[in-house]
Amino acid sequence: MKRLLALALSTLSLSALAETAIDAHKLYQQHCASCHGAQRTGGMGPALLPESLARLRPAEARKTIAEGRAATQMPAFKEQLQPADIEALSKLIYEPVRPTPSWSEVDIQASRIQHADARKLPHKPVWSADPMNLFVVVEGGDHHVSLVDGDRFEPIHRFPTRYALHGGPKFSPDGRFVFFGSRDGWISKYDLWNLKLVAEVRAGLNMRNVAVSSDGRWVIAANYLPHNIVLFDSDLKLVQSHATRAGVESSRVSAAYDAAPRQSFVVALKDLPELWEISYSGKKLAAPRRIALEEPLDDFFFDPAYRHALGASRPQGNGEARAQVVDLDAGRKVANLPIAGMPHLGSGITFDYQGRRVLASPNLKDGAIDVIDLGSWQTVKTIPTPGPGFFMRSHEKTPYAWVDSMMAPKAKDRLSIIDKRTLEVVAEVREPGKTLAHIEFTKDGRFALASVWEMDGALVVFDAATFKEVKRLPMSKPVGKYNLFNKITRSEGTSH
Ligand code: HEC
Repeated sequence: MKRLLALALSTLSLSALAETAIDAHKLYQQHCASCHGAQRTGGMGPALLPESLARLRPAEARKTIAEGRAATQMPAFKEQLQPADIEALSKLIYEPVRPTPSWSEVDIQASRIQHADARKLPHKPVWSADPMNLFVVVEGGDHHVSLVDGDRFEPIHRFPTRYALHGGPKFSPDGRFVFFGSRDGWISKYDLWNLKLVAEVRAGLNMRNVAVSSDGRWVIAANYLPHNIVLFDSDLKLVQSHATRAGVESSRVSAAYDAAPRQSFVVALKDLPELWEISYSGKKLAAPRRIALEEPLDDFFFDPAYRHALGASRPQGNGEARAQVVDLDAGRKVANLPIAGMPHLGSGITFDYQGRRVLASPNLKDGAIDVIDLGSWQTVKTIPTPGPGFFMRSHEKTPYAWVDSMMAPKAKDRLSIIDKRTLEVVAEVREPGKTLAHIEFTKDGRFALASVWEMDGALVVFDAATFKEVKRLPMSKPVGKYNLFNKITRSEGTSH
């Protein structure tokens, strides 16, 4: 009896040993690599790198591996793999791949796909609606884009996109082409008039956003992995790339934006205290001009003249981010912005208030809107809202600015409407129990379109004067919507 027990015990410890010795790398190569890539940089399926999975909770990752994803190619593994195997795999994908995967200029060039020859396609829309009042709606739920007529609020077309579009889409100056950037580094050029994908290229392995020059000649990609920026011509043919490094230190790229009046791209680095400016005023792209800062910038915003970049730095030890004003001509910091918490400057707006030009920015930490005088850099007012929000929007032709509080579990279902003349919250719209966020106005500013940010979500059209709902269209987690006219004309009420 004693011997039997000893035997049972030893097999038990053996199986315990086997469990700790699960070779996650081997399991990955066996079950996952065919779709997610041997280096986890993606393939038919998305990249599975720590940078890529920043927004995926580990519990959600385990569930995805066990149960798969309905209506996608991601299979369920719970029949083939033990819970411990799934656990090991879900841990593995949050660990960095060593050595760090590379993505060279040769890789970029080899990735390029020409889908159609835009020069041979008609130079006018194949659909009938105002091409300037078009909305491009990014549906993150099932990775599609819907094109919506901004006068009738009717869908014109719906098409699949690369996995997880990131940063806003950017338009060519005539409004014919839109450029999408994806989390995994793909840039897709789409012909809105002919409803056709034109070309694609993979600029990096993990990308923050793309920008298109105001003259339509250049496209820039801001990457987290590798640490670089990559520049293309408007056909997405590689022109040059620049490693974002200083000596032995290198940095992720926070964001790249077009600065039309300066005829340049401005680039913020996340880990190095530098701002880069790349001029496209000449026939060719200039070499980057490097502006030294005191602290790296996370995200930033331009004043209406594009003289200044207003940026927030990463939260310091105590969780407080700081904001600063950089004079792009002088090439140095000229002021600190009096904003506490975690300002989301990339989503700020500007408008006139009592004869002064002001910036209003939501705050990711506190339920408040900071209104700052763009002449004196002083706070004009802090407007309390029901909770921290992400997006703020307005339009030249409406006296109201709309803001969400989607970061607050109890207030995520509300939009607060602020009167720009009094800086008071004057109304609220609600979608009880659901997340309501991301507003964008029609070309004429008469309607505000908001997202019910859920898998079975919707695009809700509000009358911008009465705040009444006038229409809703079902959508799959519409994470963003972009009005072509407001974007191309750089409306003061929207991000650029
Ligand atoms: C047949 C192809 C295929 C195989 C094999 C496969 N996947 Fe996937 N996987 C996908 C696709 C496609 C998606 C994207 C699904 C979607 O659209 O949401 C995905 C998504 C995922 C996601 C979610 C990623 C995110 O950003 O939300 C995880 C995690 C994941 N897979 C892990 C694994 C693991 C681990 C294995 C191996 C055990 C594996 N997959 C095997 C195709 C595959």
